[in-house]
Amino acid sequence: MVKIIDGKKISSDTLDAVALEVEQLKAKGVEPCLAVIIVGDDPASRVYVNNKKRSCERVGIKSLEFALPATTTQDELIELIDKLNADPTVNGILCQLPVPKHIDETAVLCRISPEKDVDAFHPQNVGHIMIGDFTLLPCTPAGVMTMLHHENIDISGKNCVVIGRSNIVGKPMAMLLLKENATVTVCHSKTQNLAEITRQADILVVAIGRAKFVTADMVKEGAVVIDVGMDRDENGKLCGDVDFEQVSEKAGSITPVPGGVGPMTIATLMQNTLTAAKAQNKIL
Ligand code: GUN
Repeated sequence: MVKIIDGKKISSDTLDAVALEVEQLKAKGVEPCLAVIIVGDDPASRVYVNNKKRSCERVGIKSLEFALPATTTQDELIELIDKLNADPTVNGILCQLPVPKHIDETAVLCRISPEKDVDAFHPQNVGHIMIGDFTLLPCTPAGVMTMLHHENIDISGKNCVVIGRSNIVGKPMAMLLLKENATVTVCHSKTQNLAEITRQADILVVAIGRAKFVTADMVKEGAVVIDVGMDRDENGKLCGDVDFEQVSEKAGSITPVPGGVGPMTIATLMQNTLTAAKAQNKIL
């Protein structure tokens, strides 16, 4: 019988733990604060930003929103980031991606102070992840690790296959699994004989952005299947990168969409904001 990994429940427990620590921090006179920047009116980004604000409210973190028009220049955005970097009451800064095409995303991400970079996208933080010595973790991969730990899934020595090589998910995911002694293979759109490789996976993490891409024939019997996708099926219904119906007949455990990895990403963002606030105030 397949185990459905309940991301909503694990996230809720994580948020409760963060809320408790936020309360303790406030008793010491520190109110953690997250600044969220959104440029333009991408509807998906709006939903993500609203969810982030709601989670801040739930755990007692102050949130500031900076909603800038799509016509904002790169200089104007950089100026705002500089102001937030210099503001000691702001502990975390997040610029929701994507930014409009006329803005250089890398320049923006590099401008956020690494200590306030709660997405862990700054090259300095990416470097820390590479060497396995990190304070702030990329939210989605770290959320996946929290789920695996919560479910007591053995990682050391296991064959882990990651489909997707993005800077946000695939690459850091591989690094976090590697740090825990997994044997990691990263596959992507140019990979040959993909199914042959994915069938070797004890743990399969899918972050490719294609609805129901992973079918039962690509999965080993009893494997752990983690679906990072957030797609729409042919009827416009929310679904993941994994064909849940088929694959849940074969996997040992699997994350659903919605209610799987998504809530874990936000829970990690709250953890990161708390961590940043503690570090900036020299509280262990
Ligand atoms: N857009 C899609 N995912 C993310 C994320 O994790 N962080 C930010 N800042 N933007 C995103």
